[in-house]
Amino acid sequence: MSNVLIKSADIVGKGRRDVLVRDGRVAEIGSVSEKSTVAKDVEVVDADGLVLLPGLVDLHTHLREPGREDAETVLSGTRAAAKGGYTAVCAMANSYPVADTAGVVEQVAALGRAAGYADVQPIGAVSIGLEGKRLAEIGAMAQSAAAVRMFSDDGHCVHDPVLMRRALEYVKTFDGLVAQHAEEPRLTEGAQMNEGAVSAELGLPGWPSVAEEAIIARDVLLAEYTGARVHFCHVSTARSVDIIREAKARGAKVTAEVCPHHLLLTDEAARSYDPVYKVNPPLRREADVAVLRAALVEGVIDAVATDHAPHAPQDKECEWAAARPGMLGLETALSISVLALGGPAEVDWDVLAERTSRTPARIAGLEAHGRDPQPGTEANFTLVDPSATWTVVPEGLASLSRNTPYAGMELPVTVQATFLRGRATVLNGKIEEETHS
Ligand code: NCD
Repeated sequence: MSNVLIKSADIVGKGRRDVLVRDGRVAEIGSVSEKSTVAKDVEVVDADGLVLLPGLVDLHTHLREPGREDAETVLSGTRAAAKGGYTAVCAMANSYPVADTAGVVEQVAALGRAAGYADVQPIGAVSIGLEGKRLAEIGAMAQSAAAVRMFSDDGHCVHDPVLMRRALEYVKTFDGLVAQHAEEPRLTEGAQMNEGAVSAELGLPGWPSVAEEAIIARDVLLAEYTGARVHFCHVSTARSVDIIREAKARGAKVTAEVCPHHLLLTDEAARSYDPVYKVNPPLRREADVAVLRAALVEGVIDAVATDHAPHAPQDKECEWAAARPGMLGLETALSISVLALGGPAEVDWDVLAERTSRTPARIAGLEAHGRDPQPGTEANFTLVDPSATWTVVPEGLASLSRNTPYAGMELPVTVQATFLRGRATVLNGKIEEETHS
C-alpha cells in the first residue's frame, strides 16, 4: 500500500486536510475527492479525529543485533519502533561485535532494509571496541554504504580528552558529529543510582550529577575549540541544562537529547528495589525532571530520544546491583512525551513534532524524515489518536524484551498508523505483518 488517501487528518500547523500519497510520496494535499482515486488502486484511510505527525525519529536506539538477539533484533526493534510511531531509528554501536567497522554498520543497515519497518541508520563507535583507547575506523564507516555520520561509544563515555579531540577533528571534515555519553567514570565507580537523599537512605552507592556535568562542560569547550558538532545523549540533570544553554548562547555547535523516563520518573522509584528502574544515567530528582521538561519546551534540549535498552530477563530480573541498566522506550516514548508536555489537551503538537521528529532528523542528517507533508516529500508519517488511552501490557509489546517501567499504567495517545514511504507499517494500531522490503 504505497498509494493511499489519508482523509481528514489534523495536520500539525495546517488544520484538517486530505493527503494523497502515490508511489511513496505526497502527491496532493487539500480536499482530495475519493472518486478520482478509486480506479487507481488507492487505499483510503479515515483519519477523522487523528493528528498527523511527521514520522518520529529516534536518535538513540539499542537494537542489540548483532550479538544479543535474545534481547532484541533489528526486526523486533524496528517493529517496536513502528508501533511507537517511528519511521527512522539510529542504532547505537554497543552490539557484539561492536559497530566499529564498515562491515558491522553495513550489516545493521542491511538488516534494517530487509525488515522494512523503519529506516535504520547505524551509529558508529568512536573507539575500537568502545574501549576508549584508539579511534575506530571512522572514515571507513562514513564512506561505507551505511554512510555513518554520527559516532558514539554510548554505554561508555569518551573519557580521554585527546581521543575526544581527535574524533571531533575527524568528524568535522565531513560534518559528522560525536554523540557523547557524558559520565566521568572515576566519579561513578560502583554507582547504582542517583546520588542524593534517597541513595543515602537506601545505602546504595550514588552516581553524582557532577559526573555528567563535568563531561558536558569539557566537551562544550572541545566543541568550541575544534568547531565540531557534539550531541549530548540522555541529559539528566538541571545543571547540565544550564551548561548547554550557555554553550548555545555562545554559538557552540552542541545539541542535546532527553529520554522520556527522565521526563517522568524520579529516584524515588528505587525504593522499590525493582531493577526495572535501574538505568544509566539514573533517574534523578523531581527538581531535575521539572527543569528538563521546561528545557525541552524551550528548545535548549533539542530532541526526545528513547535510549530504548532491551534486556533479557536474566539480566534484569535479578537483584538491583547485578541488573543491567536500561529500559524499553520505543513503544511508550510518544505517550510519555505527551504527558511530560502537559497531557493531550495541553500539548503543543508543533513542539512535539519538532522535538520528536523534525529536529532529530536534522541532527542525524536523515533528509527524508522529519518532513511535514508537502507535495513531493516522502510519505513518512504517523497518525495518532489524541483522545485515546492505552494500558501498557509488557507481554503485548512488539519488543522481544519486557523491561518497561510503565507496566500496568494507563497512558494517553495511541499510534493508529505509521507510514514508511507510503506503506503502512502499522494500521488500526496493529503491526502490518506482510514484509515490506
Ligand atoms: C544502555 C544499554 O543497555 O545499552 N543502558 C542504559 O541504561 N542506558 C547503555 C548505557 O548507557 O549504560
